[in-house]
Amino acid sequence: MSAKKGKKEKYEPQGDAERGLNLFKQMCIQCHTTAIRGIYGARIGAGNLNYTSGLLRRAQEKWTFEKLDAFLKNPKEFAGDTAMGAVAVKSAKDRRDLIEFLKI
Ligand code: HEC
Repeated sequence: MSAKKGKKEKYEPQGDAERGLNLFKQMCIQCHTTAIRGIYGARIGAGNLNYTSGLLRRAQEKWTFEKLDAFLKNPKEFAGDTAMGAVAVKSAKDRRDLIEFLKI
C-alpha cells in the first residue's frame, strides 16, 4: 500500500461507489445480488445467506471498513473455510470501491 500523492487514503477510505458497482458486477454478481449493498455497518450475517463458513461466529460484530477490507482481501483468513475463498480481492483500491458500493 503506497501513500500515493500524499493523500490521506489509509484510514480515510473514500471509495468510488460507481466503480464499486462495476467491480461487483464482474466479481460478485454470480453469487450475490446487489441486495447485499447496505451491509456496511450491519451485523455480520445480516445478509441472510447460505453460510458455509465460520463467519457467523462473529455475528455479534458489525461490518466496519476494516473488517470488510480484511474479509474481501482474504476471506479464508477472516472467516475460515468459505465459499468466497477464491474471491480474494487483491487490489486495495478495488476493495475500497467495493466497500463504498456496499455502503449505499
Ligand atoms: C462463489 C460465490 C461467491 C462470490 C463470487 C462472492 N461471494 Fe460473498 N459470500 C458468499 C457466501 C457463500 C457467503 C456466506 C459466507 C460464507 O458462507 O462463507 C458470502 C458472504 C459475503 C458477505 C457477508 C454477508 C453477511 O451476511 O455478513 C459479504 C459482505 C460478501 N459476501 C461480499 C462479497 C463481495 C463484495 C464479493 C465480490 C468481490 C463477493 N462477496 C463474492 C459467496 C460468494
